[in-house]
Amino acid sequence: MQAGESAQRLFFALWPDPAVRAALAGVTAGLKLPRGRLTPPQNLHVTLVFLGAADAARRACVEAAADGVQAEGFTVTLDRTGWWRRPQVFWAGSSVTPQPLLDLVGALQVGCAACGFPRENRPFEVHATLARKVLAAPPAPGLEPIPWRIDRFVLVESALTPAGSEYRVLRTWPLR
Ligand code: 2AM
Repeated sequence: MQAGESAQRLFFALWPDPAVRAALAGVTAGLKLPRGRLTPPQNLHVTLVFLGAADAARRACVEAAADGVQAEGFTVTLDRTGWWRRPQVFWAGSSVTPQPLLDLVGALQVGCAACGFPRENRPFEVHATLARKVLAAPPAPGLEPIPWRIDRFVLVESALTPAGSEYRVLRTWPLR
């Protein structure tokens, strides 16, 4: 990076429309979480590829890679919740990961790796983090399935502020 040039913290994501966002926010409404911090509704999303710090050149590189992604639209149905012990997150996800979603993630991973970002080696798990710092498995509420039509993906900047993460959608790519 050049002196004086600041890096942005970036990730590719699926960004909920207002109805899906409201449905996701509703999952934790009234849920007694053992401590934990709810994701503010405006921050709810599904990460496709997390990049971390990127300077202008590497941002341009991943944007060009995203320009070249050919992927079909699809529907993902969020129909289950889960809790991961180590990252202490409570999430909503899907019992079925549609193949077009795996293809989209795979294409973005290849493009980002070609730009020099380390490749994620854990298998992709579709999830929207509903709460963080959840220390023990919360009750698993029955989840009224939330069908979510995916016709685009986005590049997001994450700013870490004293009040928490603030996300800003930088660019949107339509799917076929
Ligand atoms: P999470 O919600 O499961 O924590 C922005 O930080 C988004 O990128 C979050 O949705 C986060 O997923 C995801 N992410 C994936 N890997 C990350 C990492 N190494 N550091 C921070 N966030 C990461």
